[in-house]
Amino acid sequence: MEPSLLPVGIVTVSDRATSGVYEDLSGPAIREVFTQWLATPWRAEYRLVPDEQPRIEAALVELADVQRCPIIVTTGGTGPAPRDVTPEATVAVCDRVLPGFGEQMRAVSLRSVPTAILSRQLAGTRGSSLIINLPGKPAAIEECLGAIWSAMPYCVELLGGPKLAFTESAPRYHRPSP
Ligand code: MTE
Repeated sequence: MEPSLLPVGIVTVSDRATSGVYEDLSGPAIREVFTQWLATPWRAEYRLVPDEQPRIEAALVELADVQRCPIIVTTGGTGPAPRDVTPEATVAVCDRVLPGFGEQMRAVSLRSVPTAILSRQLAGTRGSSLIINLPGKPAAIEECLGAIWSAMPYCVELLGGPKLAFTESAPRYHRPSP
């Protein structure tokens, strides 16, 4: 691990992946999208936790405060089932919520799947970290990241983070003129 690489937090929230009932496919899907789209040299800080709010909060706090990840992406636990608590954990550790991220991801997802309305996914900030929730479906990963990618770099800059570089295949990003 090279400490100079930009750390990107990837948190898979899943009881079943944690206990080995199935393999985590969504965390690797996030890693794959960042590999395709982020040109800035980076490294994944991957965490796999069960659907338990204290465990999710602890992972997010460590990635934000200790690892200093400018971007932290979670997957899973955003639905209405009793054990889905990722948005609650995110709100609990965030200074501020950015409602537009969840609105946009749901709007884009609804074009392909009516049940996208069930996701309570949101985004927020903790210090200089932007935390973004994605649903637990591997198919949702690229769709949701693609929905917010154009606004993400400017948000990272506004939080005091680095100016990110992207590959040719990444969605075009928007940086307002001064
Ligand atoms: N969004 C996209 N883009 N693709 C999907 O397949 N699945 C939906 C929704 N959002 C889905 C999606 C479903 S079926 C559920 S229950 C919710 O996300 C919550 O999923 P989670 O609890 O795994 O986070």
